[in-house]
Amino acid sequence: QRQMCIRDSLRPAGRDVPAGRAGQLGPLCGLRPDRRRGDDSPMKQVILDVDTGSDDAIAIMLAMAAPSLEVLGICTVWGNKPVENTTENTLRVLEAIGADCPVYRGCPSSIIKHLQPNRRKIKTAEKPGRDRDGRPPEIHQDLIGSVPSTRRPEQTDAVHFYIDCLLRAERKVTVVLLGPQTNLALALTICPEIRKNIEEIVIMGGGKSRTNATIAAEFNIFQDPEAALIVAESGCSLSYVPLDATHQACVGPAEIRRLRELDTAAGQLAADLAQVMLRAYRIIQNAEEVPLHDALAVCSVIDPHVLRDRRFTRVDIDCGGDYADGQTLVDARAYPDKLPNAWFALGADGALFREMLFTYLSKLR
Ligand code: RIB
Ligand code: CA
Repeated sequence: QRQMCIRDSLRPAGRDVPAGRAGQLGPLCGLRPDRRRGDDSPMKQVILDVDTGSDDAIAIMLAMAAPSLEVLGICTVWGNKPVENTTENTLRVLEAIGADCPVYRGCPSSIIKHLQPNRRKIKTAEKPGRDRDGRPPEIHQDLIGSVPSTRRPEQTDAVHFYIDCLLRAERKVTVVLLGPQTNLALALTICPEIRKNIEEIVIMGGGKSRTNATIAAEFNIFQDPEAALIVAESGCSLSYVPLDATHQACVGPAEIRRLRELDTAAGQLAADLAQVMLRAYRIIQNAEEVPLHDALAVCSVIDPHVLRDRRFTRVDIDCGGDYADGQTLVDARAYPDKLPNAWFALGADGALFREMLFTYLSKLR
């Protein structure tokens, strides 16, 4: 039975499909004719999925600056902040750098985890370190900057954007997940057919020897383990950029100064965001540098050489709900229980990452 996609019957008539013409797809996503790079090779078409967030914002700027990438759309998701905030923050970042890219509002919560009261929670209250007002310091601001965006997200939601865009894509698309994987997991569930046009799914998430949300899990995976499992078992080509790698892609006070010296809106914004992260890391864990997790994931799409010690191995996600909830189980044994399904990077070239950071951010206004 060919898996048909429940598309038009679900999608509200909106700007993309003029009313009365259900079934006719309007000019969706950025499926422009083949755009070429300077060396005449085709640009890599990508979709970003973000919970903007300080490091997401820097990742967005890098993706928009990279001549080799064509960002077809940016999907927003809950995670660092509610989806209303992550959507507004994404719009503000694009406006700050004068970049034009459609933004598609995504899921406000996990697939099921938030409905289960006994699932393990992040115990923020127990984290060490307090701000001057006695609260745990924020790594991500509720709203980036102080100027509301003059732009609005598209009428199509993120899940339907994935389905419409990937079903119609003429070239395969790289999907870059920088937050909880809820949007893509639901799109894959409703319409598995979209896998045919996914070149690769690059995932900032997980950790083998490093975690952050709990003793066992990294934040993006922990917030929606079931979504991460759906993606892990999708059969698509997967490339994890976990905490083991991102903690080797850090910036400190010297890089923040250098970002400000770019004397551009992008440099200023990136410096401000990195400073917010550094201030929190100093208070929470007495650190003098911060990992720009999502920025490394985008850099790996631009140039995979920025990752080191990549293993093609078996990655599974624990959805048990207790101590190990959201853990990425990396079976690096010579004879794993199941067939390998993903590349998992255990390191990064920090110097190359910082070089790419300045190279691409310096292209922005
Ligand atoms: O664990 C790091 C990840 O969680 C990053 O994507 C950061 O933005 C947060 O979403
Ligand atoms: Ca993120």
